Amino acid sequence: MSMLVTGGAGFIGANFVHHRRASHPQERLVVLDALTYAGNLQSIAPLLDAGEVHFVRGDICDDALLARLFAEHDFAQVVHFAAESHVDRSIVAPDAFVRTNVNGTLSLLKAALAAHRKTGTLQRFHHVSTDEVYGSLGLSDPAFQETTAYAPRSPYAASKAASDHLVNAYGHTYGLLITISNCSNNYGPFHFPEKLIPLMIVNLLQGKPLPVYGQGANIRDWLHVSDHCTAISAILDRGRAGETYNVGGNSEVANLELVHQLCDAFDARFLGDPDLRRRFPASPASQGRPSRELVTFVQDRPGHDYRYAVDTSKISAELGVRPLVALADGLASTIGWYLDNEAWWRSVMTGEYQNWVNSHYGAAS
Ligand SMILES: NC(=O)c1ccc[n+]([C@@H]2O[C@H](COP(=O)([O-])OP(=O)(O)OC[C@H]3O[C@@H](n4cnc5c(N)ncnc54)[C@H](O)[C@@H]3O)[C@@H](O)[C@H]2O)c1
Repeated sequence: MSMLVTGGAGFIGANFVHHRRASHPQERLVVLDALTYAGNLQSIAPLLDAGEVHFVRGDICDDALLARLFAEHDFAQVVHFAAESHVDRSIVAPDAFVRTNVNGTLSLLKAALAAHRKTGTLQRFHHVSTDEVYGSLGLSDPAFQETTAYAPRSPYAASKAASDHLVNAYGHTYGLLITISNCSNNYGPFHFPEKLIPLMIVNLLQGKPLPVYGQGANIRDWLHVSDHCTAISAILDRGRAGETYNVGGNSEVANLELVHQLCDAFDARFLGDPDLRRRFPASPASQGRPSRELVTFVQDRPGHDYRYAVDTSKISAELGVRPLVALADGLASTIGWYLDNEAWWRSVMTGEYQNWVNSHYGAAS
């Protein structure tokens, strides 16, 4: 049984490859990834070195490459993570989002359908999407359900909404055996430090400002990436074709509160650890000062969605999937991962990433 994993060198894709490899060692995983700034082969290096995963560097918009891969591997399952995924970037430069998220998904659907018509092997095309397609909630609005009308508000969310519609259309029109998951904000290992939690962690370690949009009042639902991977695996194994499943952490928190939680966890961790204070001397925690002093309010993101919340009753009732990692525990283990994997985050924070961060948040002194 072969599975194509697109975007398997990115944050969630890499976590999924580790997860799936451990839970289904009999499956052959083929990772297709263009290795944009967000893709990092180091995240799956041990599996590649051990020959447990086959890697192809390539673009999901490359029809000829896709046709060749489907012919070579006769995939039984496709899990589609590859995307441009950062909302801030989509506001500045939306074209890449339409290219990869919309056109790339269409290319993949076309290749999957053509292969399925030839061999009949493909049992599932799973599309990994976001709760942001549903738009923004007020404080007392009910959480997003699978039936909530789409109302995307950023170019990123619009491109993901378009890709969801295409995937559903291929299910309805051509009978492709599709599923979609719409998930809330993930965090955990291998997360590129432009997204909120890893950015805060690496800045805390280096004593750099912690940029918080507006007053930090926007509310997000956080899910540890391992719980997301479990949910995707369950949908692949037991989910009904043609269905959409919402996935969330049942863990809503305002951005400022989240940053404060991270700061306090840092202070506690550094307090009893002279080795950490030696390794990261620029961190306020190393100097006995509160990490919260680094919080810096910056101009709000245009069109910033106020609140996301996900109703997870469908996946819970149908597939028995519930988040297992509590936010406080997940944040502590994620901080631990970045402390243990300094080489990983330092290596990804070069070149384009640095230019991007500096142009948006200013070069830290
Ligand atoms: N991160 C989250 O919190 C979150 C939440 C819900 C849904 N999602 C969705 O999950 C998926 C994965 O998100 P992520 O956070 O891991 O993203 P990411 O940005 O970390 O990784 C994306 C990966 O896709 C690859 N890629 C980009 N363009 C490509 C192309 N044209 N061809 C081949 N590969 C390409 C990149 O190299 C990278 O490895 C995305 O579809 C995203 O919309 C993410």
